[in-house]
Amino acid sequence: MSTSSKPWGGRFAEPTSKIVERYTGSVRYDKALYAQDIAGSKAHARMLSRQGIIGQEDANKIVAGLDLVLGEIHAGTFQWKESLEDVHMNIEARLTELIGEPGKKLHTGRSRNDQVCLDFRLFVSARLEVWSELLAALVKVLAGRAGEHAETLLPGTTHLQPAQPVSLGHHLLAYAWMFRRDHERCRDALKRAAVSPLGAAALAGTTFPLDPASVAEELQLNGTFRNSLDAVSDRDFALEALFVGTTVMMHLSRLCEELILWANPNFGYVALPDAYATGSSIMPQKKNPDVAELMRGKTGRVYGALFTLMTIMKGLPLAYNRDMQEDKEPFFDADRTVSDSLAIMAEMMQAMGFRPEKMRQALKLGFLNATELADYLAARGVPFREAHHVAGSAVALAEKSGRGLEDLSLEELRGLCDKIGPDVAEVLQYETAVKRRDTPGGTAPERVEEQIAALEKWLLELEKGA
Ligand code: ARG
Repeated sequence: MSTSSKPWGGRFAEPTSKIVERYTGSVRYDKALYAQDIAGSKAHARMLSRQGIIGQEDANKIVAGLDLVLGEIHAGTFQWKESLEDVHMNIEARLTELIGEPGKKLHTGRSRNDQVCLDFRLFVSARLEVWSELLAALVKVLAGRAGEHAETLLPGTTHLQPAQPVSLGHHLLAYAWMFRRDHERCRDALKRAAVSPLGAAALAGTTFPLDPASVAEELQLNGTFRNSLDAVSDRDFALEALFVGTTVMMHLSRLCEELILWANPNFGYVALPDAYATGSSIMPQKKNPDVAELMRGKTGRVYGALFTLMTIMKGLPLAYNRDMQEDKEPFFDADRTVSDSLAIMAEMMQAMGFRPEKMRQALKLGFLNATELADYLAARGVPFREAHHVAGSAVALAEKSGRGLEDLSLEELRGLCDKIGPDVAEVLQYETAVKRRDTPGGTAPERVEEQIAALEKWLLELEKGA
């Protein structure tokens, strides 16, 4: 392509090297910003005419022309050209092809530096909206499944060792609260992402009497920049979104890890729905938790995206630097991963087959009521350290004969400590252990129901607000 056909070609005598064109170009991926770019340009053109910077007729032609461009992109007939570098110059060049002279006025009082930042902010904001909807949907599924299993018990663990019985509903709700906080983080990040940088121009503002606030309003943004250098040169909004994404993936990955363990026959707490598992080409008995494994694995990509952008930004002097063009691909990739993972997890949890009988068996094998026996003795005046020791001996005794503590006879128990009475039988019930943990936020069924009610109320308010 001849030098003069580059929008910035005026001062250049030689054409760009082909490999450099590819190296510096971004259109192959930043064309994903076309809708934001067109919306931003329409708002900019209208403002230019309101401010008397361009004529109303020119603005109308620009807006109509941009709609034609949008139509071509949607129809798949738009010709993206690598020689035109990026989405902005591709769209502007086509606009001018379509409408002639007025197209050349669109860029008045604007630079690609504020333009790209606006497009990216609009894009990131839209994705944060989507993420928060997906998070709410996942919370809804988890709260629903927790409601079915408020009274299903499984071994709670610490150090991955059987610790105390908990309600499966309580366990699922732990994740629901994590995802609810992620939702809050999305909404909070959105406040700062949805701010318009348009009007900062290249770096210093412009000599044209722009009205950035009206552009922000038309684009339904929260407000405008206060410092032109800051406006074009920070990407903290994308970093915040990526941090939210990494936290979402970290939470999903932990849940995946548990599902992978639970699907192992040694646990057997879940039967993976067929639609979310795969078989082995050689071992006929296999049912592999690939979806959960991939989600755990893909977490690395999102962490990588956050680190990529943090590293890009760390040494940049004010204001715009071309390094910042590298902000988009990591975000696009992270967005795909976060959105797909959230959607899949909601479906998978809805379809998950829980196996309460296997959980019950594990309670017994893990002596999950040993703390109850120790507490029982301590409540009867046995010093806790001693009570702990007696309960330990009871475990050893039961283990020898493959029984649970609740299967030991009263005589056997009294042989270990004469403070034990017949009322111990009730205490050793797993249900009792769970029911008695009714402190705020505890695992007792009524506390589980309380959490579900709180989450449902929150979901309802979200729906009403939308
Ligand atoms: N494609 C560029 C980017 O994504 C647009 C801004 C280019 N600005 C410039 N001064 N070369 O960052």
